[in-house]
Amino acid sequence: MKKLFLAGAVLLAAWSTRSQTAVVIDATNPTNIISRHIYGHFSEHLGRCIYDGFWVSDTLGVPKKDRIRLDVVEALKKIKVPNLRWPGGCFADEYHWRDGIGPRKQRPYMVNTNWGGVSEDNSFGTHEFLELCSLIGCEPYIAGNVGSGTVEEMAKWVEYLNSDAKSTMTDLRRQNGREEPWRVKFWGVGNESWGCGGNMTPEFYADQYKRYAVYCRNYKDAPLLKIASGASSSDYNWTEVLMKNVGPNRMWGLTLHHYTIPSGNWGKKGSATAFDEKEYFSTMKNCLVMEELVTRHSTIMDKYDPAKKTALVVDEWGIWTDVEPGTNPGFLYQQNSLRDALIAGTTLNIFNNHSDRVRMANLAQTVNVLQSIVLTKGDKMLLTPTYYVFDLYKVHMDAKKLNVNFKSPDYVNGDAKIPALNMSASQDSTGAVHITLVNLDPHKKLNLQTTLVGVNWKTVSGQILTSAKLTDINTFENPYTVKNVAFNGAKKSGEQLVIDLPAQSIVMLELK
Ligand code: AHR
Repeated sequence: MKKLFLAGAVLLAAWSTRSQTAVVIDATNPTNIISRHIYGHFSEHLGRCIYDGFWVSDTLGVPKKDRIRLDVVEALKKIKVPNLRWPGGCFADEYHWRDGIGPRKQRPYMVNTNWGGVSEDNSFGTHEFLELCSLIGCEPYIAGNVGSGTVEEMAKWVEYLNSDAKSTMTDLRRQNGREEPWRVKFWGVGNESWGCGGNMTPEFYADQYKRYAVYCRNYKDAPLLKIASGASSSDYNWTEVLMKNVGPNRMWGLTLHHYTIPSGNWGKKGSATAFDEKEYFSTMKNCLVMEELVTRHSTIMDKYDPAKKTALVVDEWGIWTDVEPGTNPGFLYQQNSLRDALIAGTTLNIFNNHSDRVRMANLAQTVNVLQSIVLTKGDKMLLTPTYYVFDLYKVHMDAKKLNVNFKSPDYVNGDAKIPALNMSASQDSTGAVHITLVNLDPHKKLNLQTTLVGVNWKTVSGQILTSAKLTDINTFENPYTVKNVAFNGAKKSGEQLVIDLPAQSIVMLELK
């Protein structure tokens, strides 16, 4: 096998200058599984994500359970959403969980100071969120309030959620209609504690984390997986200090937040739908920074945690553009084009390839906010191009990661270039191999000659997501412009897999 792999590597070098690209996929020594939690999502009390997204008016004419919209739930079930993060985001550090339990009419109102200054009636709280997760069939991931909350408040929330003993908190839960504890596992201790979560230094937050985390108890059959608030993009010092001062035995996960800004300028980010090739190129260049971020944060973590006990949790990622013209700037509503799908496909390939350390991630944010997978308008709902990427990639969940080796052709724009090709591969429990490939070049198709080492396969089938223009979107009038269709551009030739990968496309192949 080793010989075959080496032969593949030699071919790879020989072909790198031709129009064909040599790829070697090695199934002989998989080192880890790709956690399904990489395919997680994020839902904040922000704009129309919770209210008017998941949680709608009693009178809206769509199928509902209580006020939870079931067409949205069905869409999320189909892509097997593994976890949902809530209630924020910045909102988490101003959220007081006791405002969101008990009879709805008696719940206090608050001002959502982070997001548009709108009134929050707290009608969607703990019980409603956990009901939503149970309908989707996903794990809840709750972010507790460190910024403006107390240790006692957080500790009591965990007791309310997870204890089956008799106490004032658990009696309150029972009184509110829930007998059994929910046994929530994923527990965030604050959010962006360097910014909206309290403007802390990493040293101060590390101490706070330890203090809060101690009192978030593991109740019977309900061990918590505690997740510390981590770095913004390239703040490597934050990761260094947290790993040094808190260490791998006290954190199941340490987060990283990174958004793709098309222009690279937070002041004028760029439109979601009106962009030229130059802006597309700069967007993809900014998206590819995730590779460097994940690599460098992982290297720091390796220093303190060579056994890789602590997961790197990228619990906010995705494209952040200017809002749709005419919408509330505090609501972060943006459309979603083929460009967004190429970002999702590329980023998920990066996470798969780093899945020894990246074991959870959450796209921001599920419905009607930032890089959504679902958009709603009244009783209408559409699936975005990004949704279809999650539909293609769900085959990787909990599968063995395979090593992939290739030298990407360049996608050249003016005097700049980026790698045109990215991919990842896995083998599931039935032995089927799945390969997800992205061609970022909007002009050139790619021809790949693929050698598979240690795989017995007879057939190849696939699906593709592409469209005529990078700016193509799904609208409420034309909801299926960008969607997955069957792909016939891959075939077996001798022992090789030959793939013709169209320009600006995302392809998923299944080898059996
Ligand atoms: O996702 C929107 C916001 O971005 C989140 O509330 C915050 O954590 C981040 O800055």
